[in-house]
Amino acid sequence: MAIIIRKPAWAISDALATPERAFLDRRDILKAWGLGALALAASANLPKTVRAATLPAGNPALYPAKQNAAYKLDRSLTPEEINSKYNNFYEFGGDKDIWTEAQTLVTNPWDIEIGGMVEKPVTIAFAELEAKMPLEERLYRHRCVEAWSMTIPWTGFSLAKLVELAKPTASAKYIRFETFYDPAMASGQNGFLYTWPYVEGVTMAEAANELAFMVTGAYGKPLLNQFGAPLRLALPWKYGFKSIKSIRKISFTDKQPVSFWEGLASNEYGFWANVNPDVAHPRWSQAQERVLHTGETVPTLLFNGYGEQVAGLYAGIEGEELYR
Ligand code: MTE
Repeated sequence: MAIIIRKPAWAISDALATPERAFLDRRDILKAWGLGALALAASANLPKTVRAATLPAGNPALYPAKQNAAYKLDRSLTPEEINSKYNNFYEFGGDKDIWTEAQTLVTNPWDIEIGGMVEKPVTIAFAELEAKMPLEERLYRHRCVEAWSMTIPWTGFSLAKLVELAKPTASAKYIRFETFYDPAMASGQNGFLYTWPYVEGVTMAEAANELAFMVTGAYGKPLLNQFGAPLRLALPWKYGFKSIKSIRKISFTDKQPVSFWEGLASNEYGFWANVNPDVAHPRWSQAQERVLHTGETVPTLLFNGYGEQVAGLYAGIEGEELYR
């Protein structure tokens, strides 16, 4: 993903072999969740890794949500232990084992600004949004542009529901998403190589597609920090970099957003980024992918296997730029 590749994309980090750190147990988290500001004040004295865990943004009482049987998989799920320790979250560094660094992400309180071409801009607290939306679990594939893949039980709500809430005007053609910008909290945002904050975008038609999913949880629990708590996107027919994490701002616009990776290397990472085994990345093939938890190499499928649901979105749009 990065401009300079230091190791093969499929090199599993050493963190996978190390014992999991001692996190607070579920009861402690529930307790802390109820304590609000008091716990936040007290948490200032806790070690870095424990601080964020005391106040997760998601309400554990809402999880696990009912699974929607329409979204099934043809392969086994990636165990949480592997998925939660092999992540791309450049705000916390360029390696795959940033899950420890990501514990400094403070997600409570967390407000999301919804604006641009909408009837009325609003700022909504994540807790309110999570409580308002009909949460469901979906089993999704995730295909990274680096040619590895996972399978995840996400919890969340369809992006279409958020669009309904936002009430965009007829002039809106795209949705632009933006991650937080806070170099004091996210060590990776101190570097000069990248242009922060992380930005992504979709067309209004893509946003209306049933597969476009706003994620608030995984593995039957509120999202862990390293997955992009408290709110991220999942667009399973596109390369993983489109699935922006830790969203703070959602704007409706008539201009095609320039995404984080596109701004850095538009010849390698485009706006559409639809998965296609026949269109190679300029530096590697996309024909196959390494399934992270089995180590198998399997053929990559057009639109990551979701062609039936999404191919129609691109009727009349031609060219390889749809696939990078
Ligand atoms: N969102 C933000 N804000 N920052 C990132 O670095 N990485 C992207 C995407 N969303 C990224 C992000 C990439 S390249 C991938 S493959 C997925 O998140 C990784 O999601 P995962 O860590 O849950 O597997």
